[in-house]
Amino acid sequence: MLTTSLPGGTWTLGGLTVTRFGYGAMQLAGPGVMGPPADRDGALAVLRTAVELGITHIDTSAAYGPQVTNQLIREALHPYPDSLHIVTKVGANRDPQGGWPPARDPRSLRRSVRENLETLGLDVLDLVNLRLGDAAGPRPGSLAEAFETLADLQRQGLIRHLGVSNATPEQVAEAQAIAPIVCVQNMYNLAHRRDDELIDALAGQGVAYVPFFPLGGFSPLQSSVLSTVAARLEAAPMSVALAWLLRRSPNILLIPGTSSAAHLRENVAGAALSLSDDDLAELETIGR
Ligand SMILES: NC(=O)c1ccc[n+]([C@@H]2O[C@H](COP(=O)([O-])OP(=O)(O)OC[C@H]3O[C@@H](n4cnc5c(N)ncnc54)[C@H](OP(=O)(O)O)[C@@H]3O)[C@@H](O)[C@H]2O)c1
Repeated sequence: MLTTSLPGGTWTLGGLTVTRFGYGAMQLAGPGVMGPPADRDGALAVLRTAVELGITHIDTSAAYGPQVTNQLIREALHPYPDSLHIVTKVGANRDPQGGWPPARDPRSLRRSVRENLETLGLDVLDLVNLRLGDAAGPRPGSLAEAFETLADLQRQGLIRHLGVSNATPEQVAEAQAIAPIVCVQNMYNLAHRRDDELIDALAGQGVAYVPFFPLGGFSPLQSSVLSTVAARLEAAPMSVALAWLLRRSPNILLIPGTSSAAHLRENVAGAALSLSDDDLAELETIGR
């Protein structure tokens, strides 16, 4: 059994125990999540720092770069420690302009799973999320054909567990009628709380909720209330935002992104911050 001193403890994704404090690797690619990083050694050092700190959940996608973050993960960490679980996602390609066109037809999904296996240097992917919607957020519509394709790849032994990303609650339910899911990865943070009900429902089912953009993503979280609470606690606003997520629900797993080992250490230390009931009530006003 995995023991950790990381804030939040651990969670079990299907049969896989992960630290609730994970790491999102998207920021390691070049500008616009295209091409290689300016500081390749620095990017490799961030990944090694994550593992040294005890993080056992790394989130990636073959679309980051494309292929760049997967290659960096392999170079920095392969052969992987048994405790480390790399979560990837399929369902979008990149175009030359840096866009994210959907690629959810069965052929593209099978190719993307193969690419992830090859670039990460794995025989089986621990967890694959089907990314739905588009850059503006979830979009209604059936995921049946795409999710059945992933369920088939799971039956073939290429994937251990499945999840969905950028999904509506209806799509989450549709996926669950096809095959068990162990996580939902959607946009959520102190200021963006559309999934409050979904998070609580998933907690009741023992399914993880993994917020992307936990710190606001490309537009860092900015709120006078957040700044006030952070100043009172003599903490960074980002630390408060992460500590709040860990308190929000036990099924929330963190994958904050950073291209800086110093920020990673700061975030790990900061997420351990203790928030009082008064702090929580004040923070609650941000997203309401
Ligand atoms: N499923 C999806 O559709 C989807 C979409 C987007 C993202 N994701 C996943 O979610 C993960 C997290 O999202 P994200 O990385 O885009 O956004 P994020 O975690 O909300 O924020 C990352 C940004 O915060 C900055 N930052 C982090 N720690 C900081 C600190 N201590 N002080 C100052 N700035 C700090 C980073 O800059 P520095 O590099 O300078 O630290 C970076 O610009 C991604 O890595 C990716 O794996 C999934």
